[in-house]
Amino acid sequence: MDFGWRFAFGNPCDASKDFGTGTGFFSYLAKAGYGDGAASADFDDRGWRMLDLPHDWAVEAPFSERGSGSHGFKAIGRNFPESSIGWYRKTFFVPKSDLGRHITVEFDGVFRDSQVWVNGFYLGREPSGYSGFGYDITDYLNYGGNNTIAVRVDATMEEGWFYEGAGIYRHVWLVKTAPLHVAKWGTFVTTDVKDKAADVTARITVNNDSTNDASFEIEQSILNAEGRKVAGDKLRKLSLQPGATGEFASVLNVSGPKLWSVETPYLYKLVTTIRQGDKVVDRYETPFGIRTIRWDANKGFFLNGKRVELKGTCCHQDHAGVGVAVPDELNTFRIEQLKKMGSNALRTSHNPPTPELLDACDRLGMLVMDENREYGINPHQLGQLERLILRDRNHPCVIIWSLGNEEWAIEGNDKGTRVTQTMQAFAQRLDPSRRFTVANSGGWGGGNSVSTDVMGFNYFTHGNTDQYHKKFPDKPSVGSEEASTLSTRGIYVQDREHQHLTAYDVNKPDWGALAEQSWTHYAERPYLAGLFQWTGFDYRGEPTPFGWPAISSQFGILDTCGFPKDNFYYYEAWWSDHPVLHLLPHWDWPGKEGQDIDVWAQSNCEEVELFLNGQSHGRKKMKENSHLEWKVKYAPGTLVARGYTDGKEILTTKVETTGEPAVIELTPHRATMKADGEDVSVVAVQVNDAQGRMVPTASNLITFEITGPGKIIGVGNGDPSSHEPDQFVESVRSLPLTNWRMKTVDSATNLAEVAFDFDDSGWQPAFGGGEQGNTNQPTQTAVYRGSFELPEKSSDAIFALALPGLGKQQSVYLNSQPIAEVNSRENAAREINLAVTALRPGKNVVAIVTTPTRGGRGNRGGQGSPGLVRMTVPPAPWKRSLFSGFAQVIVQSTDQPGEITLTAKSPGVNDGVLKIPTEPAEARAALR
Ligand code: GAL
Repeated sequence: MDFGWRFAFGNPCDASKDFGTGTGFFSYLAKAGYGDGAASADFDDRGWRMLDLPHDWAVEAPFSERGSGSHGFKAIGRNFPESSIGWYRKTFFVPKSDLGRHITVEFDGVFRDSQVWVNGFYLGREPSGYSGFGYDITDYLNYGGNNTIAVRVDATMEEGWFYEGAGIYRHVWLVKTAPLHVAKWGTFVTTDVKDKAADVTARITVNNDSTNDASFEIEQSILNAEGRKVAGDKLRKLSLQPGATGEFASVLNVSGPKLWSVETPYLYKLVTTIRQGDKVVDRYETPFGIRTIRWDANKGFFLNGKRVELKGTCCHQDHAGVGVAVPDELNTFRIEQLKKMGSNALRTSHNPPTPELLDACDRLGMLVMDENREYGINPHQLGQLERLILRDRNHPCVIIWSLGNEEWAIEGNDKGTRVTQTMQAFAQRLDPSRRFTVANSGGWGGGNSVSTDVMGFNYFTHGNTDQYHKKFPDKPSVGSEEASTLSTRGIYVQDREHQHLTAYDVNKPDWGALAEQSWTHYAERPYLAGLFQWTGFDYRGEPTPFGWPAISSQFGILDTCGFPKDNFYYYEAWWSDHPVLHLLPHWDWPGKEGQDIDVWAQSNCEEVELFLNGQSHGRKKMKENSHLEWKVKYAPGTLVARGYTDGKEILTTKVETTGEPAVIELTPHRATMKADGEDVSVVAVQVNDAQGRMVPTASNLITFEITGPGKIIGVGNGDPSSHEPDQFVESVRSLPLTNWRMKTVDSATNLAEVAFDFDDSGWQPAFGGGEQGNTNQPTQTAVYRGSFELPEKSSDAIFALALPGLGKQQSVYLNSQPIAEVNSRENAAREINLAVTALRPGKNVVAIVTTPTRGGRGNRGGQGSPGLVRMTVPPAPWKRSLFSGFAQVIVQSTDQPGEITLTAKSPGVNDGVLKIPTEPAEARAALR
């Protein structure tokens, strides 16, 4: 259910700005189905903006010093009641043939505190901004008709201390099953690898949501990655009473299994089929992997019997351009970027991730520490942990659960010991196949660190990992968070004025460590299973060590767009298995001629020799897990590094002084896209000089145009203090049509009553004279007159009249001029575009001459309102400056195959043009 939603801001303090929801004498908490205001089924939402999910309204918001710094200074939150409540509504059709099925609506994640109604029926409230949740809507639906869902999202409160976004930022699904069906997250697959075979235990939870006893059988099949069945089992003669839930298990044997690993992430699929008689009533697919994991107190982590050092990163979920509304393919892009530097592990700090992120980690071979959000032992907190584990426990990528992070109030005391114990015991019952950790930033030796199953060290500077290991020799341990190294991509001077920090590995906060220091600490200690560096990517918020106007963190190894900073190559050198030779900085330093410049090589070659303009600056030996440095007097030209291993030159890298920007180049992360309305192309934007060399200092402002079956959904450049917008979206307002008055007439034609200045003051008020009101309609032809005020600043706007459906014949006039004839009741509640030339400054008058269908109490038609005027201000053209030579545009396909053309323009340089073909693809049905 991602497509075709309407969106508008409500208000937490002023009910009239919250569409009057909850103000009825009998409202939704009083009577079932009494959702009022925007929660009501027939609320007229035609004045709201249309959009598709996933959506994050925080990323659209401007920056403000009054915003929350930890969240990136966006104008939402407590100080901004007018932009902290978001309402979403969608109409969806449910065919008659669905009657008798069990239907739920499932949300993967809404930030945060959401309330949901279907057809005015209140479904519930979910405070968590990260846990998946769903509601049974079977009994509330109109079968063979339209249905409305309304969601109120309250992002006033924060859960974390980092950018969290706002809105329905993950997928929404309409799930239709038979009354007898596999429960939500109702499978649990574990594997036991023997010599040449694996026992796969498939546990299934089945719900009988019907009112009858159900007799059935379950068939379990395991398909290999090629789709061939490799094992099967049948459980016959099963039964469940009405309303009952049953658990059933099979053990299937897979001979010669292909093990899931970081290098070959081989996936099997369990297909669960439930049959009643001959009829298949449910089919449920569970992808899984066959692999073994083991944590050892002295030797670290083992995957399939082999020690794997965790070379990990912690990551928040937001990306440049889109905030937390990250399309699936963009998550794949992010994991691919991390894999390129040899990273094999990811910590979903500090919350349950989007499910599709784990799908990508399964597919690409990325090990995951899957983290819970709220720490605690009561149903609300344990419920979050439960949902996390039930949802994610079939993913082979998940190798450990993290119960929480840096619980400062308790991590060093007895409460911490107890809470951790309780949470762990609870979690263990849900997943006995994995172990648990807590990320601890202090109190090592007491508190959490006593009871945690696997010790998570947050920053080795906070204690002594060796002493801890000595004290708890049987406890495995891992660096759950390290480094917090600070750097700005492409910047090689400390430029505090612009809140930029040099990209050499020299900046860290008090509690952190440089990339090299942190990695060395872990690489030298086999009892440590490896580490998770803070962070893989820069994220919005936490602009340490700066405050306003800096808006983004600089801890990332890659920036918010996923462009690598120089430390990326440090990790690539020591984490990947291929030769690396990278030089920094760039070599464009006009004005610095003759001055010393530090040149670093990040490399895993045994020796590196550096040349400037052919002149050697010395051949140096590389120490393991280190880098090399030279001081070089600047002269424009070419820096060349030659890398040697075993005495042989194996790599050469060159950095040249570039010329003036001449042409824009656009590079997509993939050559084609799927025409499914979801796929994205992540396009790198750069300018090159006349010789085709990327200009690393370029900051050109680039404007983008797009034609064909695609749209731009976000732009970014990785500058941690840029206040340029990430999105350019239309703004939509509803102008109320008010002062409705009505008079019956004898004929529908040649009426003076439709004139702009006709005096209607003696007429009878209609619709209560305001926006809502009585529904009585006359039995004969009548004229209705209402008015709206044109806002002063509206010259760019587009206006549409969303008509009320008053009768079967409707003649509509705007300021005396006829603008529409409607000949059927079905069409009566339609929308009419209003020509700008027909509008007047200030007051505008709409007159409707209508003949009712039948007499008496009439139908207000439409969606139960007297209509409105929708004012749409189209978005400004998409644009973004390059930062240190790069920007990024994220392009999304529509469901039409064809060719997208993206054109990038900037004064004084040649355009960049990119063609992206989009190939026919099936749109995912449940998302529509
Ligand atoms: C840690 C914390 C992270 C982040 C980091 C910044 O203490 O766990 O969420 O705030 O510090 O260095």
